[in-house]
Amino acid sequence: MLKIFLLLFCSVNSFSFAATTDAFLQCLSTCKITNHKLANITYTPKSTNYTIVLQDYIRNSRFNTSKLRKPIAIVTPLEESQVQETVKCAKKVGLLLKIRSGGHDYEGLSYTSKTPFAILDMFNLRSVEINISAETAWVQAGATLGELYYKIWEKSKVHAFPAGVCTTLGVGGHFSGGGYGNMLRKYGVSIDNVVDAKIVDAKGRILDRKGMGEDLFWAIRGGGGASFGVILSYKIKLVPVPPVVTVFNVPKTLEENATDIVHQWQYIADKVDNDFFLRVFLQPVPGRSNGSTTVKASFIALFLGDANKLVSILNEKFPELGLEKKDCREMSWIKSTLFWAFFPDETPETALLNRKNKFVNSFKMKSDYVKTPIPKDGLQGAFKKMIKSGNILMMFNPYGGKMSEISESETAFPHRAGNIYKIQYLQYWGQGGAALDKKNINLQKNFYSYMTPFVSKNPREAFLNYRDIDIGSAENDCNAYDQAKVYGVKYFKNNFDRLVKVKTEFDPENFFRNEQSIPPLAKATREDKISSMV
Ligand SMILES: Cc1cc2nc3c(=O)[nH]c(=O)nc-3n(C[C@H](O)[C@H](O)[C@H](O)COP(=O)(O)OP(=O)(O)OC[C@H]3O[C@@H](n4cnc5c(N)ncnc54)[C@H](O)[C@@H]3O)c2cc1C
Ligand SMILES: *[C@@H]1O[C@H](CO)[C@@H](O)[C@H](O)[C@H]1NC(C)=O
Ligand SMILES: *[C@@H]1O[C@H](CO)[C@@H](O)[C@H](O)[C@H]1NC(C)=O
Ligand SMILES: *[C@@H]1O[C@H](CO)[C@@H](O)[C@H](O)[C@H]1NC(C)=O
Ligand SMILES: *[C@@H]1O[C@H](CO)[C@@H](O)[C@H](O)[C@H]1NC(C)=O
Ligand SMILES: *[C@@H]1O[C@H](CO)[C@@H](O)[C@H](O)[C@H]1NC(C)=O
Ligand SMILES: *[C@@H]1O[C@H](CO)[C@@H](O)[C@H](O)[C@H]1NC(C)=O
Repeated sequence: MLKIFLLLFCSVNSFSFAATTDAFLQCLSTCKITNHKLANITYTPKSTNYTIVLQDYIRNSRFNTSKLRKPIAIVTPLEESQVQETVKCAKKVGLLLKIRSGGHDYEGLSYTSKTPFAILDMFNLRSVEINISAETAWVQAGATLGELYYKIWEKSKVHAFPAGVCTTLGVGGHFSGGGYGNMLRKYGVSIDNVVDAKIVDAKGRILDRKGMGEDLFWAIRGGGGASFGVILSYKIKLVPVPPVVTVFNVPKTLEENATDIVHQWQYIADKVDNDFFLRVFLQPVPGRSNGSTTVKASFIALFLGDANKLVSILNEKFPELGLEKKDCREMSWIKSTLFWAFFPDETPETALLNRKNKFVNSFKMKSDYVKTPIPKDGLQGAFKKMIKSGNILMMFNPYGGKMSEISESETAFPHRAGNIYKIQYLQYWGQGGAALDKKNINLQKNFYSYMTPFVSKNPREAFLNYRDIDIGSAENDCNAYDQAKVYGVKYFKNNFDRLVKVKTEFDPENFFRNEQSIPPLAKATREDKISSMV
């Protein structure tokens, strides 16, 4: 009896009836958005620029193919009220909305779907309003990190913001997933420096922190945006940086004892002075003899201080690297953002305003957290496999410092104390069709499986911003909670159930969803699950 009730309830809840473009556009044109304005902001497959607008913010060539289902419409609001109307109309006609800000989702979830959908594209909403005397800024979701960094620099040479190194990332997706960057040991992740936000909820209301309350505000700091509403903007607290910072990029191959040095790095990376961020980028490269391959470990650093101090600290704590002052370069913080984003040396600051991504590739990423140093033979085994693969790369990103001072439940982002570093597995290849995609993805799955004994367990943690569809996905049905729990505890650890509670309160009908979103509890099971969750 209960089961039948559940099934009925769920089928109503699953938006299975066909939504038409006409009904959606008709609705938009009859609400506050006038026809004139509507024409400016909506694209359907019949529109001249539909394909351009769709492809403009596709960052992974794997999903840049005519083989995937296309959105029935792309709405590109110029005003916040148009976001509200878009949400209300999509909800009214039962149409799935995918929200896109910078389009970097590793699995393309912001612009693809197996079921009919429209894209709400935020690229026009990208103002950055900085108040230097208050040391705060309101940043709209469609702004890129490069725009944010540039606009801070225009106002002050000694302020900055801790966020990612790729300058085309969108604030909407990047911050809501946590926002990892090279100042996290000093200042935490982006959301640790967010003080307010504006969101359009499932009822179409615009809510700020006060209006949404602390639970929802907690959820959109690390729990991802797409489950809870459309994030319009975040208010951030700027952080101080010295006028001169220092960077270096020192490569060591296996022949130059890279294995020993990387091994030793694990004992200092999370413990050295918080002004240091010293990452290791590992890649297979051609060796010295013809036809051979080695692994190059690039030690890449940002130090919030000058070169003399850097060298003296590092030579005491990490003499194995053999760092010399000539390896170091002093520069302004803004120049360091260009260095970290791999721009050539003399690139002007205005390059940060370029919203186009330089790299056009198919890629696949995964992540892991390391809590005890990987033994030397473990590293050696990994390097052998990288060489054999030819295209599997690893980035070791240190934690510790400020990250260890913030509790796991402070925000929805849970990866805090106890992590030495996070591994990002990276694999790039040219557009080669489904067979090549599959071959590479399987290669990486195999590598990930090799790494199992060396990384976090129960759960094997993963970083939401490095979205990985292989760790689980959920349908919009009655089993959603159990399906979502599989990836949910990896991304959010013990915060998962609180995220479900917030979701159930703000979006019980699961209007905002994707393949890896937070599900609401189905009505019939809500009360006992919630009471068991307290
Ligand atoms: C080249 C590259 C470099 C990267 N470097 C870093 C890095 O240094 N540090 C790091 O932490 N991550 C990094 N990432 C990952 C990046 O942070 C995530 O992919 C992030 O989600 C991108 O945000 P976006 O707005 O560009 O992406 P989108 O694809 O637009 O969005 C990503 C997700 O957020 C949702 N979303 C987007 N906007 C909104 C909104 N306004 N409201 C609600 N939900 C929204 C989308 O629906 C989707 O689920 C990198 C990614 C790439 C491709
Ligand atoms: C809206 O479209 C009209 C023409 O249809 C154009 O003149 C106007 O500049 C557009 N406005 C914006 C903000 O794109
Ligand atoms: C289509 O895009 C081009 C290039 O960006 C632009 O010049 C043109 O005005 C656009 N046309 C329409 C109808 O939006
Ligand atoms: C997507 O395809 C278009 C047209 O072929 C191309 O211009 C664009 O660079 C591609 N983008 C990516 C990320 O592959
Ligand atoms: C900037 O912040 C200060 C201090 O909080 C405040 O008095 C001032 O009004 C703000 N300026 C703007 C333009 O919002
Ligand atoms: C590698 O380590 C060995 C033993 O510690 C040492 O003798 C050798 O000089 C090192 N090689 C390089 C290139 O640093
Ligand atoms: C490597 O191979 C090229 C031709 O393939 C040859 O010209 C070169 O001398 C070789 N170098 C070494 C170090 O063997």
